[in-house]
Amino acid sequence: MRDQKYAGQHMAAVLGWYDANARELPWRTGPADRARGVMPDPYRVWLSEIMLQQTTVVVVAGYFARFTARWPNVAALAAANDADVMAEWAGLGYYARARNLLKCARLVAALPGGRFPASQPALLALPGIGPYTAAAISTIAHDQAATVVDGNIERVMARLFAVQTPLPAAKKQLWQLADDLSPKIRPGDYAQALMDLGATVCTPKSPRCTCCPISTQCRARAQDCAATLPKRSPKKPKPTRHGHAYLGQRSDGAWLLERRVGSGLLGGMLCWPCSEWRTLPALADTSDEAANKAPSSADWPVNADWQDTGAVIRHTFTHFHLVLNIVTADLPLGTNPARGFFVPHAEFDPFALPSLMRKAHAALRPVEPKAAGA
Ligand code: ADE
Repeated sequence: MRDQKYAGQHMAAVLGWYDANARELPWRTGPADRARGVMPDPYRVWLSEIMLQQTTVVVVAGYFARFTARWPNVAALAAANDADVMAEWAGLGYYARARNLLKCARLVAALPGGRFPASQPALLALPGIGPYTAAAISTIAHDQAATVVDGNIERVMARLFAVQTPLPAAKKQLWQLADDLSPKIRPGDYAQALMDLGATVCTPKSPRCTCCPISTQCRARAQDCAATLPKRSPKKPKPTRHGHAYLGQRSDGAWLLERRVGSGLLGGMLCWPCSEWRTLPALADTSDEAANKAPSSADWPVNADWQDTGAVIRHTFTHFHLVLNIVTADLPLGTNPARGFFVPHAEFDPFALPSLMRKAHAALRPVEPKAAGA
């Protein structure tokens, strides 16, 4: 346990910096409003935290604006169609999160009062909410004391205490260090202050130590090793899987698509029918394209003259790389596919597809010539 004086100085420096430098974020109630007793909407805090598990603040901003315009509160989201929510989430990735988002909204909307609970245990019991998210919602939306440790805060702690143990082994130690410093006063502002500090000052590369409010407390700064921390254990190389994506278009322009079933990768998403994605260890020294050439008729969504376009798309998932060959066919009116269904051309929106499926569609279209002088 750090002494009270150290923790008090730390809190004052962090909060003072936040009062002057807090980022304006669409889901955030800034420190001045909070000081006047304005509290953020827990629905917006929850939605932002689930989205921010996926990607950066900049990318989330667009998705957050579209979601909240369409579903301004938890009751509206709970009443939404699954397919509409999956389509709005498309491109954010990790589609189990979107399915859990809906499950969670429906459970919360059905609670007496229809509001998010404030306590960490009650939040943890909801789908898609783990320890980090429960702590973040509880403290940001309800100002309950909690220890919030995301990647930014791990980095701040690793530097503040010059922790040399690499991640992920250091996680517990970093959480404990953050817990020792977590204040009872303005806990929500403090958590967001550390997030902002990590995102804007204590950055992964070239940290701006001269602008840092806690640089005098920082051991890594004293040892001149801030930019080398946190250390990370080398990652296991990811295997590569190969497959074919079947982009079939009917003579009236309708596209053949299918909705993936189940709770696995891309479950619930609208996708091009694909072959199985196979790992081909024996072909490790062959090029991606060669390893993947011949589409097998056993995989076809419909019997047709499928042509390999030579276009290949690559995508990286959490646990593997994927290489997909794009195969196309012109399908006659009256085609009755074994898998999938036709989406009329006028209703087809590539932005409703997950990124890799969108990439497959984009790979088909010739590049528009640039306008002269553009
Ligand atoms: N990253 C995760 N949650 C965040 C938040 N509430 N504000 C800023 N960055 C974040």
